[in-house]
Amino acid sequence: MRIYLIGYMGSGKSTLGRQLAAMLNLTFIDLDTYLENKYFKTVPQIFAEEGEESFRKKEQAALREVSEFSDVIVATGGGAPCFFDNMALMNETGACVFLDVDYEELADRLMGSKTERPLIKGKSRAELLVFIDELMQKRRPFYEKAHIIVRGKNITAQQVLDAIAVN
Ligand code: S3P
Repeated sequence: MRIYLIGYMGSGKSTLGRQLAAMLNLTFIDLDTYLENKYFKTVPQIFAEEGEESFRKKEQAALREVSEFSDVIVATGGGAPCFFDNMALMNETGACVFLDVDYEELADRLMGSKTERPLIKGKSRAELLVFIDELMQKRRPFYEKAHIIVRGKNITAQQVLDAIAVN
């Protein structure tokens, strides 16, 4: 069994991933953390020192590796589904769930975590909302290729479980 959780920054991929892993007895993998351990650098460090393109290549390589692991639930970074053939790889190798969270809720959650996220560093709440809206327009076509989509403001682990069970 292999489950991928995808969605915007702040959509709850890591939090729900941990809860689901405990409920389903799977190993939880946060792709950003996996990548940081693989390359001995934090995500902000890779962005600052090597640029986004290099980060995306590392992210793809990390995803390829975890796509061969069994009994895992993988929380990807928000941009992962939108580069290379990453989305196709996830759909082919597991159950891919898009967590489609309300934009206002995303902005509230992201306000508290801007230092760890290079793409939104220094933005006000109003700027964040514009940024979310613009980036979502580009990302949504990728995210919506997921076989399972769960929409809501505060998505629960049980909702995700139910959606996986019926698919
Ligand atoms: C990114 C999301 C981040 C991380 C990187 C880029 C993105 O992960 O991979 O900062 O492009 O949306 P989270 O979605 O876990 O914040």
